This record gives sequence, C-alpha cells and structure tokens, in this order.
Amino acid sequence: MNVGIIGSGGRESSICFSLKRSKKIKNIFAMPGNAGTALISKNLDINIDNFQEVKDAVKNNKIDLLIVGPEKPLVNGIVDFLNDTGVKIFGPNKAASQLEGSKIFTKKLCEKYKIPTAKFGIFQNSDETIKFIDKTNLPIVIKADGLAAGKGVYICENKDEARNAIDEIFRGKFGFAKNILVEEFLDGEEMSFFVLTDGVSIKCFETAQDHKRVNEGDKGKNTGGMGAYSPSRLINKDLEEKILYQIINPTLKGLKEMQIEYNGFLYAGLMIKNDEPYLIEYNVRMGDPECQTILPKLKTDLLEILLSCCDKKLSKINFEWYQKKSLSIVLCSNGYPDNYKKNSVIKNIKNIKIDENNLCFHAGTKLKDGKIISVGGRVLNFVSMAESFFEARKNAIQNIEILNWQDGFYRKDIGYKVINK
Ligand code: AMP
Ligand code: GLY
Repeated sequence: MNVGIIGSGGRESSICFSLKRSKKIKNIFAMPGNAGTALISKNLDINIDNFQEVKDAVKNNKIDLLIVGPEKPLVNGIVDFLNDTGVKIFGPNKAASQLEGSKIFTKKLCEKYKIPTAKFGIFQNSDETIKFIDKTNLPIVIKADGLAAGKGVYICENKDEARNAIDEIFRGKFGFAKNILVEEFLDGEEMSFFVLTDGVSIKCFETAQDHKRVNEGDKGKNTGGMGAYSPSRLINKDLEEKILYQIINPTLKGLKEMQIEYNGFLYAGLMIKNDEPYLIEYNVRMGDPECQTILPKLKTDLLEILLSCCDKKLSKINFEWYQKKSLSIVLCSNGYPDNYKKNSVIKNIKNIKIDENNLCFHAGTKLKDGKIISVGGRVLNFVSMAESFFEARKNAIQNIEILNWQDGFYRKDIGYKVINK
C-alpha cells in the first residue's frame, strides 16, 4: 500500500517513522516533508494549500491512504475536497474541524452541553469588549476566533495589555475579526489528552504534557511547544473517566446532533485544577511535540490503527504501549518564537546516537546541496525513552550537545515537574 502524509513538522516526521515499521507499506510520500522525511520516505515538493495539487499528487503516486497532519488543511476542508477520489483519508472533515477552526464554535458547544470550560463572553467590537474588561478581574484571556498558528491567545495581566490585544485582533492581525472571545483565566496544570474516533467508537490514546512557554520555568512567550513528556503526571483512571464523560463524549454527541461525524485524532487541551478537568481548546489533530513523544511508545502497528479508523473498525483494535517514560526536547532557531535566522547549516547530525530509545525527528529542516539547513523556528526534536524521565532527559540533552548547533537553543528543564533531581 502507498501512504501519503501531509505536513512538514516534527509530528509528521514521527508519523513517517512509525509507519516505516509497518510491513504492509510499499511507499511513503511526505508532502512536502523535510530533510528527515527525505531519508525515510519520498518528499513531494507541493504546495499543500493548493488542494488540487494534493489531489494530483495522490492520483499520480497511486496513494491509497492519505494522512493529514496539520490543522490548516483540515480546517480548510481538504478531507471534503478529496472525498470523490476514493482514497482513504485520515482526519476530520471541514464541519468537524470547526472544533479547532473556531474557538467560538467550541465555546458555544461547551455552553450547550455543559462541558466544563472557562467562563466566557463573545463581543463584536472594541468598545463593547473594553467596557466588559473594565468590570472584570485580572488576569484575563483574550482570543481571536480562528486559526492563528498558536499566536491568537493573549493572557493579559493588566488593562493596557488587554486593550492592546483587543486592538490587534480587531485590526485584523489574525485575519478579519467579526468576533472576539474573552475568557476567565484558569489556573491549574495543563495536560494534552488524545482520543481516536471513527465516528462509532472512541478510544483513548496516550497522554502527554507539553511545555508551551519559550523560557525555562515555563516563562516567556507562548510557542508551538518546546518539549513534552509522556505519560502525563496527572492522569489516572478517575480523571480519565471525568474527561471522557464530561468533555469528550458530550462534544461528539453534540456534533452528531448537528449531523457532523468526527473521524480522526481529537486532542483536548485541558487545564486540571483540583483533579477536575476544564477544556481550554480542541485541536483536530495530534499535538506537536506530543506526537513525537508518544508514537515511539506505540507497540501496535500505526497503519492498522489509522486504517481501522477510516474503515470504522476502531472497536476491533487494541492499542499496546511500551511502558517507558518518553521525553522530547525541541531544538529551536535562536530568536524563536519571534524572528529567527534561517538557512543555517546543521553539521554533526551523523554523530548523534540513534537507537530504538533515542530518536531525532526533523521539523524545520531542508536538504540543500547535500547539506541539512534550518528553515523553521522549531528545527529538530530529540526524543528519548528510558525507565525514568531523568534518564530520558539526560540522553536527549547528550545528543543535543553532540550536535552542538550554534544557531539554536533549547530548554534544559523539560519535564521538571516529573524530575526532581
Ligand atoms: P490555546 O491556543 O487556546 O491552547 O491557548 C494557548 C495557551 O494559552 C494554552 O495552552 C494555555 O497555556 C493558555 N490559555 C488559553 N486559554 C486559557 C485560559 N482560559 N486560562 C488560562 N490559560 C489559558
Ligand atoms: N503542542 C501543542 C499543539 O500541538 O498545539
């Protein structure tokens, strides 16, 4: 069977890597992929925002299963666009992807089905929003409704920051803004919770915790994710049941009542406070770097899982996991998440230690004249599995030190809440 993967980040690299272990796959095509996927699959240099190009690539390369990694093509309806090709497509359709594509859609669903989430208000203009902010407690969270590549969320400590956020959003920093979302600030500990659903049954995947802030001690600006560890330190049977019964099941039921079927990974970004889960946001895909952290622990054939989801046979499959601690560290370009330098050559990659427990997944890299160069903010993911998180982090850092890339930086404290030495 031929498999295609849309995307070029660390998440897609790890999906490629896991699929490579499946004996049933003849060819893997990464669209457009990166320098890492080029080593284990064939990169197709196409513009994934142009769905016709994707459709042509699927046809020309006789792809049988197409996996969509990132949210943007899902939210823009790639699954619907390719529906007439007869190809199996893994990922939710446009209607279901509103869960990530519109924060307001999700908040209204939470309200209707009494899903625990931060209290919120929706406003149509700056004056109305400022009037409301003037009466509320700080900190307060202000959000653009649509996709904003992780940047449309402002945690405001004072009124000036709030006014600036409102101004930027209504001036169109994240595209035309008809509405703005204002939320109560939730404090607690964040956790990434993943389920797979084929529209009939729902199965829990592994959990992880992600470090979103750029600086050590979880300080500084929000990023796509600087590193993660799996499993989450918060998860237990009781909490899992609460998440399923109070959050996941009512969401999928709510969608069904709107005649919307969800197929694929559903990622609930949660805040856990006093053992109670609150939904912060939904993502309609796997997390990045959570995916890179979780997939190496998977014993079951990923291809079988994804196919069973497309064929509505998910109930027939069991997920088996290696009982190891997995931890990932993201090596970023200096300056990320603001402006950063590109096209820096990454040498020494051949010297790093790669084995079944120590992996390196490429993200913002490209092959140029036989050299690996950086082209993105998040460049490489170092993932290590071990008996303890301490050991895993030590091994990941060792590899980063061997690489010794001068134009990059990373957080040395990933997993500090589960590592006390
Ligand atoms: P989102 O893109 O909605 O996940 O938001 C990005 C990050 O902002 C989250 O991972 C949280 O760290 C933080 N965040 C978003 N909403 C809230 C909230 N209501 N209370 C506290 N933190 C939040
Ligand atoms: N790691 C956060 C995300 O994938 O959105």
